Amino acid sequence: MAFETLIVDITDHVCLIKLNRPDALNALNTEMVAELAEALTEAEANEKVRCIVLTGSEKAFAAGADISEMAELSFVEAFLTDIYARDADRITATRKPIIAAVSGYALGGGCELAMMCDFIIASDSAKFGQPEINLGICAGMGGTQRLTRFVGKSKAMDMHLTGRFMDAEEAERAGLVSRVVPTRKLQEEAMAAAQKIAEKSVVTAMAVKEAVNRSYETTLTEGVRFERRMFNALFATEDQAEGMAAFKEKREAQFRDK
Ligand code: HXC
Repeated sequence: MAFETLIVDITDHVCLIKLNRPDALNALNTEMVAELAEALTEAEANEKVRCIVLTGSEKAFAAGADISEMAELSFVEAFLTDIYARDADRITATRKPIIAAVSGYALGGGCELAMMCDFIIASDSAKFGQPEINLGICAGMGGTQRLTRFVGKSKAMDMHLTGRFMDAEEAERAGLVSRVVPTRKLQEEAMAAAQKIAEKSVVTAMAVKEAVNRSYETTLTEGVRFERRMFNALFATEDQAEGMAAFKEKREAQFRDK
């Protein structure tokens, strides 16, 4: 499908999705969020795709939800349409791994979108923030919940209450991003990480994603129990047999997603 606000490209087994509203620093309007949900649904259904990279431009991953679209919204319209909610849920329902490759601004809904991905690789120019308070609103796509889980209450409160931005170095120190790379290397590093993931069994990668995400949803005891069952279940796969045989035979595993 052709998109108005995204550029989608599949190379080998990696689907690269680029947010593309340069005139508005990739501000997320309802069309873009819906298209992104659609692109991820297509990537999920495409057997060729084994990992997804979501990125923006050098200047902005996304500078937030589109303020001009929200400015005239009434409470009733926001409530009845539950703006962005269904498409955001479709984004987080994606079972294949998604890497956010963030350069420049990741603000408000942009920061929230990056946090919906499985991990964030940031360029050294990345700036994260939840400045909604400056507009008289709060975050609305998970920012108060996810940022708090990533960086803890004190820093999350600081970000949400003051609206200040966090640079890449602070974001890495705080655990928001997994690694920081020079801006010119961002796409290359993210694609290389995705390629590494694409070499694994998709079945195992999905199981890993589900198990790690469970840690956000439940108690330690329940999470460990879930992980044990997932661990047991993976012994029913051909990929487990292949992975361990390859290790013993000192060769690369040839996973077949079976
Ligand atoms: C709509 C936006 C935008 C946004 C930037 N633009 N951010 N348009 N929504 N969120 C537009 C500007 O209006 C401008 O358009 C163009 O992009 C370039 O932006 P400038 O401000 O001229 O660039 P610069 O001076 O470099 O400043 C960059 C910036 C600033 C610091 C990122 O643009 C900014 O503060 N943006 C708003 C950030 C924000 O508040 N985000 C949170 C939104 S609320 P023109 O036409 O003038 O050239 C949110 C809620 C999520 O995200 C909850 C969802 C449920």
